[in-house]
Amino acid sequence: MNKTDENMKWLDRENEVLGSGMRLPFFPLVIKEAKGEFIYDYDGNKWIDFLSSACVTNTGHSHPVIIDHMKEQMDRLVHYNPAYASHENLIALSEELIRITPGNFSKKVTYGLSGGDANDTAIKLARSYTRKSKILAFSRSYHGNTYGALSASAVSLPMRRHMGPLLPEIYHIPFPDIYRPQFNAVDESERCIAAIEDLLETVCPPEEIAAIIIEPIQGDSGVIVPQQIYIDKLKELCNEHGILIIADEVQTGFGRTGKWFGSEHFQLEPDLIVLGKAIASGMPLSAVVGRSEIMTSWEPPAGAFSLAANPISCAASRATIEVIQTENLIKRAQELGSHIKDRFRDLQERFEVIGDIRGEGLMIGIDLVKDQMSKEPNHSFAAKICWRCWEKGLFLTFFSGSVLRIAPPLTIKDVYLEQSLRILEESFEDVTQGRVPDSVLDKIKGW
Ligand SMILES: Cc1ncc(COP(=O)(O)O)c(C=O)c1O
Repeated sequence: MNKTDENMKWLDRENEVLGSGMRLPFFPLVIKEAKGEFIYDYDGNKWIDFLSSACVTNTGHSHPVIIDHMKEQMDRLVHYNPAYASHENLIALSEELIRITPGNFSKKVTYGLSGGDANDTAIKLARSYTRKSKILAFSRSYHGNTYGALSASAVSLPMRRHMGPLLPEIYHIPFPDIYRPQFNAVDESERCIAAIEDLLETVCPPEEIAAIIIEPIQGDSGVIVPQQIYIDKLKELCNEHGILIIADEVQTGFGRTGKWFGSEHFQLEPDLIVLGKAIASGMPLSAVVGRSEIMTSWEPPAGAFSLAANPISCAASRATIEVIQTENLIKRAQELGSHIKDRFRDLQERFEVIGDIRGEGLMIGIDLVKDQMSKEPNHSFAAKICWRCWEKGLFLTFFSGSVLRIAPPLTIKDVYLEQSLRILEESFEDVTQGRVPDSVLDKIKGW
């Protein structure tokens, strides 16, 4: 068991001052320092980070190249409101983002501070450009907690309860899930497309729809990868009706899935691409990159935020792109992802509880079930695995009730990845043998 005395002192103080909506109920952890793939607390404990700050620190914690660029910028200019003046890093970063994002057409960029606000911006841009109001969004999607983003999200009641009225004119459609099909059928993708067609025929006139907002691979719903056929048919449908495609790449972006962006897995060229999280390796920054004609369809200050495009964040973002390129992290994410999935396939033969292994690159979900036939989610097993890993030095979480979230930094060294996989294997053994008590379920609830 880890010592937690110093952590608990901090958390007792925090309890007096912090509101209740920010922290998910996982571990009693106060981070003192984090470097590379490691997190350190105030009690001398150390963990390998298998969460990467929820896919924010794809380049590991405090990558020296990124820190150097930030320091150099910090000495010159901390910030100036971009509504009034520009700076070198904003311009150079915009050029880079246009270069690396999918879409072989003229594009422009606008900035914010969080994934949520960038999704709001994309929704506003789509509405202002098309002069249409309706937005299609997906069941089980997560887009953030600003009002537009939360209105599009459909994965968690606490996000929405008592928050209404939410943004009007958002219609939710099913996201295809081949492991737990919504329609209990083998042709899940076709059925999900048919559900949209039905909506367009009965509820939602297609000529009134501005855009559809999609996570190319759904993240917080437990890593759900759509089939190519679904995305092909969705593109056709959007083309036919002049519906813009907004890709929320906040979680799937910056190499996480083994491509620069998740859309590339499906040859999808979205009209608007929403970026956040790993864009600046932990510094606050978000962006929307989109077709030039959309991005120039509104007037200032419609897209202005005082703290957007902070020069230090933009420097961190440029350095992040450089590190992903020079260290070949996209290829590394592909290779490590395949290796991890292979290892879990081996474990699946020993542990019945492993229902599904899915994802791309280093965005992997391990879906734990009570039995393979019913596929009933096994929340308590997932929680116990995470607790045991925590005790053994691996920082691992779960989402969607029962899905282990495998998201180490793309920079994780082989030796620490192997160590993590060993810890995971031992933890599966421990939980299976009943060596992790039910009492831990009061401590780690997850979401
Ligand atoms: C796909 C996706 N979009 C948007 C967001 C919201 O980003 P932020 O927390 O920076 O507002 C998240 C956060 O988890 C996300 O996973």
